[in-house]
Amino acid sequence: MSTVIVTGCAGFIGSHLCDRLLASGHEVIGLDAMTGNYPRWMKRRNLGSAAGHPKFHFMEVNLCADQLEELVRGADVVFHLAALPGVRSSWGPSFADYLGSNVLATQRLLEAVKSLDAARRPTVVYASSSSVYGDMEGPLAEDAPTYPRSPYGVSKLAAEQLCRVYASEFGIQAVSLRYFTVFGPRQRPDMAVHRFIRAALCGQPVTVYGDGEQTRDFTYVGDVVDANLAAAESGRAGDVFNIGGGNRASVNDLLTTIEAVCCVTLQRQIWPAQPGDVQRTYADVEQAAERLAFRPRVGLAEGVERQVADMRRLYGRQS
Ligand code: UGA
Repeated sequence: MSTVIVTGCAGFIGSHLCDRLLASGHEVIGLDAMTGNYPRWMKRRNLGSAAGHPKFHFMEVNLCADQLEELVRGADVVFHLAALPGVRSSWGPSFADYLGSNVLATQRLLEAVKSLDAARRPTVVYASSSSVYGDMEGPLAEDAPTYPRSPYGVSKLAAEQLCRVYASEFGIQAVSLRYFTVFGPRQRPDMAVHRFIRAALCGQPVTVYGDGEQTRDFTYVGDVVDANLAAAESGRAGDVFNIGGGNRASVNDLLTTIEAVCCVTLQRQIWPAQPGDVQRTYADVEQAAERLAFRPRVGLAEGVERQVADMRRLYGRQS
């Protein structure tokens, strides 16, 4: 690859991917709508290191409305990370935005790729989600049934299915990566690790939904970047891979880890379990290990330490 597009380049994972691609010498076209789902200054900060790079070209683009054919022409890979994220916020009238940002945007991007000569079409690496599965009893492989429990999960699954049909009907080289609760520096402010660390740094209580015994297969952002690069190189049309970090921990375990790293005791406020919130996620990553040589490297405590260091700078606190 040499010229690559990253949609959602100002987001949490997209910005890390841009940094790595630039460090490897690629020409990176970064697209982002700079939507206000969280503070724009955080998105601008995410782009901080890429922004001044001579090989980085930022464009504010709305994937649901703007002309995309000319944009994708000449690209070798499109990493499609732009989306409206968030499981618990996807109920109610906001679903129209989830449909647009997650489903329609993906369809328009795939149509733009399809409009190019077959030999000149970029590979598409789509950021899917563990939310497509719903609740998991054990480690789930990619062929497990998909029963999303939230409108967000439904929208991510719909976009993944679009990748599959554009791959099967038109041979588009679209690969889907199902990320499992990604954490690390620049994590979105609505996510648990960010909220808990912010509370620890600011001396505030945390909100725990349910009994806190729900578990996640936490995945460090750098490992997700590795998976994206490998999928662009080795993925085949229609492939789907679980990208899970192997850091299975409950919300209570996560709180204990953050307390140890920050040397604080967090006051817990217990709220009801939230609709759409699954009890556990647990990735079987054998496919990704075999085909993409995926080996998650960063454990929960180490990743939390790195995120704490970043968030001390983010919120301007030294201790
Ligand atoms: C996360 C992301 O937000 C989704 O974008 C992504 O697609 C999904 O992971 C995935 O892996 O598929 P989620 O697992 O809900 O979704 O991640 P968090 O927001 O970090 O929440 C993790 C757990 O902490 C949830 O059980 C949640 O209820 C709990 N939580 C969160 C709290 O108890 N308190 C909080 O203040 C925030």
